Amino acid sequence: MTAALVLALGLVTAGSVAAQHPRSHSPTDRLIDSLIARMTLEQKLGQLNLPSVDTRPSPQQLDLVRQGLVGGFLNLTGAAAARAAQHLAVTESRLHIPLLLGYDVIHGYRTIFPIPLAEAAAWDPAAAESTAHVAAREAAAAGVNWTFAPMVDIARDPRWGRIAEGAGEDPYLGSVLAAARVRGFQGSDLRATDAVLATAKHLAAYGAAEGGRDYNTVDVSERTLREIYLPPFRAAVDAGVGSIMTSFNEIAGVPSTANRWLVTTLLRGEWKYSGLVVSDWMAIAQLQAHGVAGSRAEAGKLALAAGVDMDMTSGIYLDDLPALVRSGRIPVASVDRAVRRILRAKATLGLFDDPYHGASVEREAAVLLAAEHRALAHRVAREAIVLLKNDGDLLPLAESAARHTIAVIGPLADDPGAALGAWPGHGDPRDVVTVLAGIRERAGAGVELRYAKGAGIVDTSTAGFGDAVALARQAGVAVVVVGEAADMSGEAASRSTLGLPGVQQQLLEAVQGTGTPVVLVLLSGRPLAVPWAAEHVPAILEAWALGVETGHAVADVLFGDVSPSGKLPVSVPRAVGQVPIYYNHKNTGRPPSQDKYTSKYIDLPLPSSPLFPFGYGLSYTTFGYSDLRLSAPRITPAETLRVTVTVTNTGPRSGTEVAQLYVRDEVASVTRPVRALAGFRRIALAPGEAQRVEFALTPRELGCYGPDLRFVVEPGRFRVFVGGSSAEGLEATFEVTVAPRP
Ligand code: BGC
Repeated sequence: MTAALVLALGLVTAGSVAAQHPRSHSPTDRLIDSLIARMTLEQKLGQLNLPSVDTRPSPQQLDLVRQGLVGGFLNLTGAAAARAAQHLAVTESRLHIPLLLGYDVIHGYRTIFPIPLAEAAAWDPAAAESTAHVAAREAAAAGVNWTFAPMVDIARDPRWGRIAEGAGEDPYLGSVLAAARVRGFQGSDLRATDAVLATAKHLAAYGAAEGGRDYNTVDVSERTLREIYLPPFRAAVDAGVGSIMTSFNEIAGVPSTANRWLVTTLLRGEWKYSGLVVSDWMAIAQLQAHGVAGSRAEAGKLALAAGVDMDMTSGIYLDDLPALVRSGRIPVASVDRAVRRILRAKATLGLFDDPYHGASVEREAAVLLAAEHRALAHRVAREAIVLLKNDGDLLPLAESAARHTIAVIGPLADDPGAALGAWPGHGDPRDVVTVLAGIRERAGAGVELRYAKGAGIVDTSTAGFGDAVALARQAGVAVVVVGEAADMSGEAASRSTLGLPGVQQQLLEAVQGTGTPVVLVLLSGRPLAVPWAAEHVPAILEAWALGVETGHAVADVLFGDVSPSGKLPVSVPRAVGQVPIYYNHKNTGRPPSQDKYTSKYIDLPLPSSPLFPFGYGLSYTTFGYSDLRLSAPRITPAETLRVTVTVTNTGPRSGTEVAQLYVRDEVASVTRPVRALAGFRRIALAPGEAQRVEFALTPRELGCYGPDLRFVVEPGRFRVFVGGSSAEGLEATFEVTVAPRP
């Protein structure tokens, strides 16, 4: 590379991956053109090849790098090893092209934040942006320049373990958080040494796997795709995401990795996305198992033709495509297109200038688990906790109870792994403050704190019940910490039941049976169906997997140092038989009622509602909504309606409310959800304080895909609801009309 080109590259700024036109003739494009012109066919296909290392590249893999047959690695982390591989690539390979180094930085690299589902419960996009930014800073210091996050799959079925990795069931909240996370990972300049290339995954509808079973078949209509599953991807694209991963699943007979409509027509054509597309792990090879390719070569041909640029771990592009290109069955132009996108991503990261992207052993040591990173983890973990029930104001623990004896019981109370959750990156269990440790630290010397595990997470022995019950009997309050182990959610962790695993339910019942007041703390990567607890246990906290600061955050809430403010980003079912369950369902022709012939379950209470609805979460104070006003009774389809409401802290303590706006299109040419989230605000209020909150309803929130699947705001009556969850709120109506305003 000439000095002039290196200088020229310095002019390229990031954040512009999506903005750059493929045919522009910027200095970057000239560099890329010149590299492509000098590459052999194998070296071109090498750029499309993304193998995984087993912690370190093998001698054979290093040799592939020398030959220019590797575009990047995944799972190669650590500044020293990453620098060594980059050094080899830029000094010993013929064209000196640096490597993309990808890793699953899902909710932190070393400082582990709440799992994404938990973070979604904070309804705080600024917080999500900050945690992604810190995760990027740590990962980049350790040599990673590309993360396989955010996962933006909408999940309406909590049996699916990967619900833990996303923002829950709602496309609006999911879109806001997708954009925030992309901004956080990529920053405003991808060349910055605290930025990494983000990946919106898994395109598309992976969360709609039949039966909630991972990798399973999906069959959704284009309408549901566009209304529910695609919006977060679109939001990520609009936020400038530099990479997109295709999903393992098929949609209506076409596996995503071979889906030309999805990857090329929609993503690149309709949405004007110009970043790179990577397959999921071995997904190109798996086109054979799907039964749409008869050989590896055929699988590779299909994926490339669909628009998948990079082959994660199948090795098919490198091994099988040369012959197809040479025989003219694959045009070399389609290979060049993919190569160009990968080289552009490398240029956008500034790797041709600084292949190390700022990674160094010193920086890694200074940045990982920095005090301010832990402080952020603590703050966000507090926000993510959802108070589901608090009868008789058992919480916060009164000074009197706290001063006496607290029994902490349950297999997850002192389990650092469960606190880290699925996809813990380089999180170290030794960094974790468990719930027990957090309570012990906060309770201080004046409190008698006793701990009994009581049972395992999945094993069925009840041998520990006796101790647990004895402890609870002597205590002023029993904090029971139960739920799921880390490996019970995430990839390949679908469940057929949604209750407490093992004998934890029996343990809870035994402790409750002592008569000592029980606070149930749930740690889980999904909403759990706990109807018995909801009926009998006075206080319940959903504390998910909150990362390294789990214990501090739970203790803050238990002792009332902070008032809980989390709201559910998913519906909590009463029974597994209700799933898929989601608040923004259709009305049906026979909405549930006392009448037998209506849409419901005969063995669940009417109206077949969830145990806890989407958007729900209590606080230690109360909030009132009043004076709901609309800026006009009538608007035209192109206009924006302003919705204002007063939110008042009507209780005795400071607190934060998440005010939510929902909309319903009463009559349209296609059926519309009974409610759809269209705005939200987090507002901190002192006791007695009131604040006027304003929302804007734009055509984007009011429109729908008509019968021809074109997006349109249809005239007619709309209802708005503003309140503290999807199941309540003040109501008002307005009309969209094409007639001019009177
Ligand atoms: C997962 C992806 C992940 C990839 C690389 C796959 O099994 O589905 O989400 O990014 O592995 O680790």
